[in-house]
Amino acid sequence: MEKSNYINGYSKLTNEAKVDSMAHFLGKTVDDFSILNHFKLPDSNLQARLEEISENVLSNYMLPYSIAPNFLVNGKHYLVPMVIEESSVVAAASAAAKFWFSRGGFTSKVVGTTKVGQVHFKWLGNGSVLNQHFPKIKDILINDSEYLLANMKKRNGGITGIELLDFTHQLPNYYQIRVSFETADAMGANIINSVLEEMAQSLKQYFADNFEGAEADCEIVMAILSNHTPESLVECYVECDIEGLAEVSGSLLPADYALKFKTAVDIANIDIYRATTHNKGIYNGIDAVALATGNDFRAVEACGHSYASRDGHYKSLTTVDIDNGKFRYTLRIPMALGTVGGLTTMHPLAKLSLEILGNPSARELMEITAAAGLANTFSAVRALTTSGIQKGHMRFHLNNSLNTLGATEQQKLQATKFFKDKKVSHKAVQDFLGK
Ligand code: MEV
Repeated sequence: MEKSNYINGYSKLTNEAKVDSMAHFLGKTVDDFSILNHFKLPDSNLQARLEEISENVLSNYMLPYSIAPNFLVNGKHYLVPMVIEESSVVAAASAAAKFWFSRGGFTSKVVGTTKVGQVHFKWLGNGSVLNQHFPKIKDILINDSEYLLANMKKRNGGITGIELLDFTHQLPNYYQIRVSFETADAMGANIINSVLEEMAQSLKQYFADNFEGAEADCEIVMAILSNHTPESLVECYVECDIEGLAEVSGSLLPADYALKFKTAVDIANIDIYRATTHNKGIYNGIDAVALATGNDFRAVEACGHSYASRDGHYKSLTTVDIDNGKFRYTLRIPMALGTVGGLTTMHPLAKLSLEILGNPSARELMEITAAAGLANTFSAVRALTTSGIQKGHMRFHLNNSLNTLGATEQQKLQATKFFKDKKVSHKAVQDFLGK
């Protein structure tokens, strides 16, 4: 790469200069990027607030902000905000919410909200000696980082456990301090990381003060929270009499349909190819709510996928039970969500989403979000085991083709009527428009 091409100090340029630099780099003009300005907010204060969220911001990338109504979760009626780029997801969530509304809704329960952080370090000394020192080390680490946890403690959070793990049999000289946190209503990533970095410093100091020679030093490899949060878990289910499935069982008897639905989910429990797609259907709902409420959806997904592999093979996050004439569909999913701090207060729409949900606690938000995930997978498996998934996507394919082919509003209306009972393909739309 030619050195003259290297872009120096991009982050320090003004917004206009950043666009100018990009245009120059790509051999284009600033006017070629005028669309960036169309997506900026007219309210410059609000725009400035959004730009503070990230770096090298040129504009805003918009996605639809939607509501899935009629979510009955633990007897409470919610309108659930969802942000997602994929069509049919909000419709699928809403359809499932409506179906289960008259069947008792979603029963959702937080099993725990423990988060974990780790200080990874290398030390040349003996593990059993370190074990003897650990009670003292533990007290020092807790004392030294206490000042960072004042706010969390006010909300009944804090450190709930701290242990020393010896991994030297797997990686020479490698030890780990694993800290458990109750973060209350915050997701807690920032606080946890600050506490861990403080602990890492104290640990280093402890070795310097209490050991000699090579043992007086330790190498802090890193200090960071873990996104594997199997103990920050929520369990959510829907249940009805098998006969209650008649409305969705298509040409099958409800009892046969319940078994077919169960088979579809059982397949996702034994086959990784299906499991991944099945779980993706759950995250359609979960990510959409996480995004709408300003939560870290990558963290939420990462912990779900590691949890799905907890037995050594990746499997479905849901199970079906058919017992005593009842059909029950259950989702067990770890999740680290917050309702205070981070983007939840900085992004005006994240704040609005929480207001729409009645300003829930983190636990309540976990329960609602799990319900959205269960709703989406219910609709997905229901479609897959009856009419197939493409039927529900037809409107999207039709709109896509109509827009690509430059159809007028009137042609769009006519096409919607025409394709109501026909298969949509780009060629068929092209033929319909006479193009
Ligand atoms: C598509 O976004 C999600 C599905 O593939 C989920 C599934 O297959 O269960 C329909």
